Amino acid sequence: MPKTYHIVLLPGDGIGPEVVAETRKTLDALAPLFDLTFDFSEHLIGGIAIDETGSPLPDTTLEACRQADAILLGAVGGPKWSDPTASVRPEQGLLAIRKGLGLYANLRPVKIFPQLITASTLRPDVLQGVDLLVVRELTGGIYFGPRQEGSEEAYDTMLYTRPEVERVVRVAARAAQKRRGKLTSVDKANVLASSRLWRQTVTRLMAEEFPDVVLEHVLVDAMTMHLIRRPGDFDVIVSGNMFGDIITDEAAMLAGSMGMLPSASLGDGSRGLYEPIHGSAPDIAGQGIANPLATILSAAMMLRHSLGEEAAARALEAAVERALDAGYRTPDLAHTAQPDQSVEIVGTKAMGEIVRGYLTPP
Ligand code: IPM
Ligand code: MG
Repeated sequence: MPKTYHIVLLPGDGIGPEVVAETRKTLDALAPLFDLTFDFSEHLIGGIAIDETGSPLPDTTLEACRQADAILLGAVGGPKWSDPTASVRPEQGLLAIRKGLGLYANLRPVKIFPQLITASTLRPDVLQGVDLLVVRELTGGIYFGPRQEGSEEAYDTMLYTRPEVERVVRVAARAAQKRRGKLTSVDKANVLASSRLWRQTVTRLMAEEFPDVVLEHVLVDAMTMHLIRRPGDFDVIVSGNMFGDIITDEAAMLAGSMGMLPSASLGDGSRGLYEPIHGSAPDIAGQGIANPLATILSAAMMLRHSLGEEAAARALEAAVERALDAGYRTPDLAHTAQPDQSVEIVGTKAMGEIVRGYLTPP
């Protein structure tokens, strides 16, 4: 009997439905090779959920996610819902699902595909060998602290508790143990009280529980410099919610295109939420040209982290590599041809089809 996994799909807005559809087909093609079955159900989130139900995260969606083994999300948001005076916004759906499912650790790996090393604006010699993982705290900090909104005065509060810091740092430190054994903690401890708590907590926890991991503390402003000057020096980076939001966009540009980068959001159990780090890209939505690879690679993270199907995860990643090796590119990567290489530009569906063609059994 094949193992059955219950997967909730949240296509969302913009290019979300296109990239999620290709990923679903790819998982269906992968399943028989590894004796698995995926039981998919689709639910609403984001702008489309506002249009259809009035809420960016309907209760039925959250409930379905609670019953699932894992969740795969496309993207939320778009110009249709970006009026700053609107009372509900698509992004609230994303924040609410992270909080509602207790997904406090956001893993954003950045690996440079050698085939795409010319995609970045940075020099190839700076990018050679870059392979880092940012672990961003996702359910605390200034995103969720007390706030007040007004036309004369407004504030947000960056609040962290010791247990909140400890649990995300443990996730990052365990990842470092499995990788190159180095952890960089990012904060603003020279100014912020919450960062001083963060730093003290990290120092103590690492000494007590992870003496084998090399720890360094870096201030967030300096980190933005180091990330583009010497990105190859970093292994695992851990930071609070807002600093992590900012440095992961910067780190994504090391890889040149947002179209290649997956992410995982995890809590205490095995259930996780997986999504490409790119947004809904309304400018190209519906044209069939979006890059599905970040979502397909997010599905590989799902196989690895939530389902424990490491071999299937690797098969998916290997198929993506082979598609790139063979020169296939979606338009976002059209400029990445290297002098000795010819590339063929393909759309979303064709790219999915090509990746499926490269899937091989264990
Ligand atoms: C991200 C996004 C979200 C965030 C937005 C869309 C709410 O920028 O996932 O990085 O700020 O967390
Ligand atoms: Mg962001």
